[in-house]
Amino acid sequence: MCKAFIFDLDGVITDTAELHFQAWSKLALEENLVFTREINEQLRGISRRDSLDIILAENVRSESQIAKMMERKNDVYLDLLNSITKDDILPGILELLLELNARQIKVVLASASRNARGILLRLGLIPLFDAIADGWSVERSKPAPDVFIHAAGQVGVNANDCVVVEDAQAGVEAGKTAGMKVIGIGPESRVGAADWRVDDTAAINLKQVLEQF
Ligand code: G6P
Ligand code: MG
Repeated sequence: MCKAFIFDLDGVITDTAELHFQAWSKLALEENLVFTREINEQLRGISRRDSLDIILAENVRSESQIAKMMERKNDVYLDLLNSITKDDILPGILELLLELNARQIKVVLASASRNARGILLRLGLIPLFDAIADGWSVERSKPAPDVFIHAAGQVGVNANDCVVVEDAQAGVEAGKTAGMKVIGIGPESRVGAADWRVDDTAAINLKQVLEQF
């Protein structure tokens, strides 16, 4: 029975992929690294460090250089985040959060991002969440199930009573490994392993999920 909805942030609540792309592009230019939209697509849902490892590919850097690069990328990203507003909440999401609150189904965030809390604040959504699990909450990031298990624990709900909403392959895998039902947003090639799949956030059908689960 559905007692909690656990939301990913980037690509589910708001679309920050373009801002991540711009910030990584700037760093790649400074560092003489190859970075394309195709590579950016591989970064969906994974941590900042895992993202940088993919971008670096065969290029070797010391741990201290890596730490500085992650900091530089994040400074650019934080600057870009200053431009987001409530208008950047993806279609249907605000209505869904309000409906879940009205039905007293717990609403939790489970994101790999260390900026998740700040982004929810900018979007004015903090009051609609019962708990937040983010890139600071667990060691192992998606596709490990840890962030979802931590999120469910924060609201005292068993994994098999949770529905995850995810747009990333790594996130769908993490949710399934956690023993949760998953709504996948995006193409079959990316989120085909989810229990329900929709093309975009506006198509999430709460009634259908509650009837079937
Ligand atoms: C999300 C995004 C990833 C990003 C990660 C870490 O999961 O989908 O592309 O790398 O968060 O974000 P952060 O804000 O901590 O750099
Ligand atoms: Mg995502």
